[in-house]
Amino acid sequence: MNYKFKYRLFGRSKGRSKNNKLIEKAIKMKLKKIDQTKYNIIDIGSGYGESTLEIVKYNSDKIVIACEKYIDGLNNIAKKIKNVDANNVRLFQGNVHQLLDENCPDNSISEIWILFPDPWPKKKHYKRRLINYDFFLKIKKYLKKDSIIHIATDSRAYISEILFNVYKIKNDFQWLNQSKREWDYANLSLPDTKYFQKALKKGFNPFYLKLKKL
Ligand SMILES: C[S@@+](CC[C@H](N)C(=O)[O-])C[C@H]1O[C@@H](n2cnc3c(N)ncnc32)[C@H](O)[C@@H]1O
Repeated sequence: MNYKFKYRLFGRSKGRSKNNKLIEKAIKMKLKKIDQTKYNIIDIGSGYGESTLEIVKYNSDKIVIACEKYIDGLNNIAKKIKNVDANNVRLFQGNVHQLLDENCPDNSISEIWILFPDPWPKKKHYKRRLINYDFFLKIKKYLKKDSIIHIATDSRAYISEILFNVYKIKNDFQWLNQSKREWDYANLSLPDTKYFQKALKKGFNPFYLKLKKL
């Protein structure tokens, strides 16, 4: 399959600002290869970067990789990270499938965050959703034993689909937060992202799901 087509993503890759090339500091932070011996956290679809910056704050001893198509969001992370040489943050511009295929050895990822993935509400677009059964099957081999996956969405249809798939892959992943108090995103100490705020404005109550790879 054509390389560009295989990893094609829908949606914008640049904002309206003129400075939307990856800034020099962000280029220095570009991901090379994942070091399997480290504790590697991937923030998939990091958007404007709020979640990555928050994760970095509490994980200064771990490697945090922001994976996003949207250049302005990656630039935002780079601008806010103070010391580029000492930092533990890496940026990957593009599709997480490409990141996994090309940069991640088996058993190399310790933690994944997927906050407010595009819900693609129209039925004809469901196949564009990132999290589905095939996605769980794929990430399984890249995740270390006992690694953690954090997922949040305000889409009821999407969370139903995700939970159905979690049930199907229950031999490989354990659902850790099975009570209302533990899945209520707004009442937990979780990253305050742009799409979390959007959900609150719409009066939605986002659902947080925490899984462990067995
Ligand atoms: C709805 S936004 C949420 C952004 C952010 N997580 C937040 O909570 O504000 C979803 C983001 O996921 C990114 N995205 C979608 N599919 C992706 C993929 N396969 N790999 C990497 N990023 C992806 C999009 O570019 C978009 O910025």
